[in-house]
Amino acid sequence: MLKSKNCIVRHTRKEDIPKLIELQRRVYPSIPPWTRAKLSTQLEIFPAGQLTAECDGEIVGCASALVVLWDDWADAHSWKEITAAGTFENHDPEGRTLYGAEVFVAPEMRGSGLGHLLYEGRRTLCREMNLKRIIACGRLPGYHRHAPEMDAEMYAKRVVWGDFDDPVLSFQLREGFRYCGVIEDYLPEDKESCGCASIIVWLNPEYRPRKPSHVEQEEVL
Ligand SMILES: CC(C)(COP(=O)(O)OP(=O)(O)OC[C@H]1O[C@@H](n2cnc3c(N)ncnc32)[C@H](O)[C@@H]1OP(=O)(O)O)[C@@H](O)C(=O)NCCC(=O)NCCS
Repeated sequence: MLKSKNCIVRHTRKEDIPKLIELQRRVYPSIPPWTRAKLSTQLEIFPAGQLTAECDGEIVGCASALVVLWDDWADAHSWKEITAAGTFENHDPEGRTLYGAEVFVAPEMRGSGLGHLLYEGRRTLCREMNLKRIIACGRLPGYHRHAPEMDAEMYAKRVVWGDFDDPVLSFQLREGFRYCGVIEDYLPEDKESCGCASIIVWLNPEYRPRKPSHVEQEEVL
């Protein structure tokens, strides 16, 4: 469990599901939220990878992940493919890559360090499970404003170069992730990002290749 002021990041519980769906609907008004069934399956398949942020008893954010064999996915893929349509049935205990499938914070709570706390939760998980890295394909919600003038790759590079500030990629870079390129048609419903996403990676400095990973472990925070 990770703490900051009155906020904690802990493992997601079954009883959180209705509140998480409600929150996701507020965060992405134009993208259909997860169903109860999908969130339940995620929890059953990989409970350790599902984190919830709670402040004063209110649910204010979450970070969801599965483990994959990255070599199977390194070519372009969509969110739907790699997450098995949000069920996480592609979770592979033989993998060494923690794949971030979702992260969000309640709009009114942003900028107070909750995103950082959720990312810290993921990094803790990665270290404790002896996984090699965290990879995610992040939204580029600022891209639609620049799409008439440039492709998504140029937009992302300009975020990396510090010319533009993107609400998601800039945050991820400050969290120590490296930018690795753009995937198109990753999430077509995401109109702000024009369907595109940036591949990002964080390498676990404590990873020991000769030691086993502990993907089935549930309580590592
Ligand atoms: C991306 C997201 C999760 C970040 O969450 P967040 O809670 O705002 O993140 P943090 O508060 O940790 O950091 C955000 C910024 O606030 C700043 N911040 C952190 N603590 C702060 C504090 N106590 N006071 C003021 N600012 C603070 C951080 O420095 C950071 O600024 P920077 O990006 O300029 O470095 C959030 O914006 C979000 O939910 N976006 C919508 C959903 C989404 O698109 N998710 C990404 C899916 S790929």
